[in-house]
Amino acid sequence: MADSEPTISKGLEGVYIAESSICKVDGQNGRLYYRGYPIDALAKHSDFEEVTYLLLNGRLPKGKELEDIKKQLASARDLPQGIIDIILEQSGKADPMDTLRTATSALSAYDPETPDMSPAANMRKSLRIISRVSSIVATIGRVAAGGKYVKPDDSLGHVANFMYMLNHKAPDKRQLDIMRDMFIIHAEHSSNASTFGTMVAGSTLADIYSAITAGISVLKGPLHGGADEAALRMMKQIGSPENTEKYIESALAGKQKVMGFGHRVYKAYDPRAKIIKAYLISLQPGASQELKTYTAIALKAEKMMVERLGASHGIWPNVDFFAGPVYTAAGIPVNLFTPIFAASRSAGWAAHMLEYWQNNRLFRPLEKYTGQVDLKYVPIKERE
Ligand code: ACO
Repeated sequence: MADSEPTISKGLEGVYIAESSICKVDGQNGRLYYRGYPIDALAKHSDFEEVTYLLLNGRLPKGKELEDIKKQLASARDLPQGIIDIILEQSGKADPMDTLRTATSALSAYDPETPDMSPAANMRKSLRIISRVSSIVATIGRVAAGGKYVKPDDSLGHVANFMYMLNHKAPDKRQLDIMRDMFIIHAEHSSNASTFGTMVAGSTLADIYSAITAGISVLKGPLHGGADEAALRMMKQIGSPENTEKYIESALAGKQKVMGFGHRVYKAYDPRAKIIKAYLISLQPGASQELKTYTAIALKAEKMMVERLGASHGIWPNVDFFAGPVYTAAGIPVNLFTPIFAASRSAGWAAHMLEYWQNNRLFRPLEKYTGQVDLKYVPIKERE
């Protein structure tokens, strides 16, 4: 079977890898559900801890359960000195995603339960890693800005504490609302590249630290999580709304991809982009000149791309397109966008691992071999 004419699905397009009840992406109609709940409702009413509980446990928490998960996440926030040292050592040398990957991997050394693969230990470790990835990202940003490690404040919620550890100041309401929404919107998205990367590592029965470190590695690239940074850098390069048309025309003529557009599954407007766009527009009264410029560029680019490629080619704005300007409004530097995506997505990665391990099977796909066989080995002296 393997050596007869196989069908290759490039990029695994259209291939189902598992059954899952975590997330439904309805790409034709532009709808997204976490455990059955529409993303719009969660963004409007929920918070990150509740969404994390929902993703990991399959249902919304009751009062005491929500209190407990908040306590569990808060109690794991403080980083071991060894992790802080990695961040200090790499600051200014490595890309923040590289530091995040290294520091997340190193977390395993500080968790006595690392090798325990029982479901209960995996749930506890999931909460610890979700908590600490946020602390690592905040500390990477804090140190890059010239500050020292900020000890977490247990009286704050997960997202507010993230902002506190980043800025050594609790966020104002506007910053908190923005970041709460961004954490919820980015928490999960079915078997995308980074979740699949996480699952491939976890399917070998490697521990959750190995699996999530793999997810972070996969998220980094500009075709996936790195697109939010790339899209903002593009807006910066465009510089003013008047230059937008020329830039997009020339990108399309040169067959260049416009970052923040297109998606393997969505062939309709990404519902997350709709929420973030509405948010961006709501931020306009009193916005800084920088934000107004980004917004004008983004809206012009969106209009052109949708007219040219929307209905005809199924290329619409994705979650990453409007994210940059919104993060800017919350005072987040551009090279923290993708690490923040990882901090939020660690909840989805962990949920997938916990689910997949219930019925684990090693991932081991095949390749169609196109090379030669039975070549005669020639000693090095005879190879001239
Ligand atoms: N700008 C211009 N053209 C595009 C874009 C884009 N952003 N995206 C796809 N296309 C075109 C391609 O050039 C290609 O055209 P062709 O058939 O004439 O060669 C066609 O659409 C199909 O593109 P593929 O890259 O093969 O489609 P795929 O399903 O692999 O695309 C992807 C998904 C990788 C996300 C792609 O749309 C892309 O590179 N977008 C830009 C990067 C980006 O925004 N990534 C974030 C995605 S969301 C996330 O991961 C969180």
